Amino acid sequence: MKPEYQVWAEELKKEFPNANSALMPLLHRIQTEEGWLSSEVLDEVAHLMGLSTQYVESVASFYSLFYQRPVGKKVVHVCVGLSCMLAGSDEVMHRLEQKLGISEGETTPDGAFTLLEAECLAACDLAPVAQVNLRFQGPIHPDEAEALLSEEVSKQ
Ligand code: FES
Repeated sequence: MKPEYQVWAEELKKEFPNANSALMPLLHRIQTEEGWLSSEVLDEVAHLMGLSTQYVESVASFYSLFYQRPVGKKVVHVCVGLSCMLAGSDEVMHRLEQKLGISEGETTPDGAFTLLEAECLAACDLAPVAQVNLRFQGPIHPDEAEALLSEEVSKQ
């Protein structure tokens, strides 16, 4: 745990009315620094915020953009919600798995890409949708799936 995390926690506790409200901004800030949130970090965050470790872990595991294991430089989420599935997201995922040589949930050996499923990304009108780091892309035709890896596709 880096010493500045305690400083950030104290700053956020002053800014927000209760520790629960400050938790997500703190987790986001630490993940930006570390790349992911280890169980040791979650335990320390719980201590800093005066919350239970179980509560902090439940928040971190609920949101798909909090990572509890190391991820690649680019994280590609392919939505597998109903609208996206009906529009062909399974084929988009299949093409990406083939191109990267990994399965959903895995990271390429060079650490460049992580491929993950996501439940509804709240952009059903753009189905099928993918998200590369924080950038939405859609609709993605399976033939365009590889372009996601170079972020050439942008239809938003
Ligand atoms: S089902 Fe994919 S964005 Fe809603």
